[in-house]
Amino acid sequence: MRELEQRILTDGRVLPGEVLKVDGFLNHQVDPDLMFTIGSEFARLFREAKVTKILTVESSGIAPAVMAGLQLHVPVVFARKHKSVTLIDDLYTAEVYSYTKKTSNHISISKKFLSADDKVLLIDDFLANGQAVQGLFEICDQAQAEIAGVGIVIEKIFQSGHQLVADRGVRLESLAQITSFDGDRVHFASEATD
Ligand code: G4P
Ligand code: NA
Ligand code: NA
Repeated sequence: MRELEQRILTDGRVLPGEVLKVDGFLNHQVDPDLMFTIGSEFARLFREAKVTKILTVESSGIAPAVMAGLQLHVPVVFARKHKSVTLIDDLYTAEVYSYTKKTSNHISISKKFLSADDKVLLIDDFLANGQAVQGLFEICDQAQAEIAGVGIVIEKIFQSGHQLVADRGVRLESLAQITSFDGDRVHFASEATD
């Protein structure tokens, strides 16, 4: 998505450790107009997929997921993060390890909001090592829900998440695909076809 790539080039900053800081429009301050356009694009891509529900993880996945849900007219459920989970009878849960933060979190979704009748679109802000998406796969498996696809705002295709989704055989749509960082420069997969 050209508009998103342009915004990454103007507002994004590359931090040590191959982290792209985009807190000006996605991870802290949110640009609703850009999010609406992102939601439209996800809706266009998955319009025929018979999605009944969108799943994401709090907090940064919520804005793009809600904008997609608005335009696909389906509910959006965000998995909550907990340090540990004790009362789990009413929850689907998975453990998510963050390589960037070197911490483990449990994510959970109430059994009220996901079932075997659902066909789910997973949306997240970043795909890096894919641990969040893996956790959502596990939760969908527990609910025996079908997975229609994964929609990602910004994918770093040089990290392992891409392969993790491919191995599962699930459709992956990323609106910006970063192939590499070169100092403070960002390179996109789309450059190859420009
Ligand atoms: P993974 O989910 O793909 O495995 O990501 P990883 O463990 O590597 O990273 C943990 C957190 O850092 C995730 O957010 C993920 O979205 C985010 N992240 C990964 N790479 C980048 C990057 O280059 N830039 C930014 N801004 N974030 C990145 P989270 O902990 O779930 O936080 P949040 O959703 O509450 O913001
Ligand atoms: Na996230
Ligand atoms: Na994040």
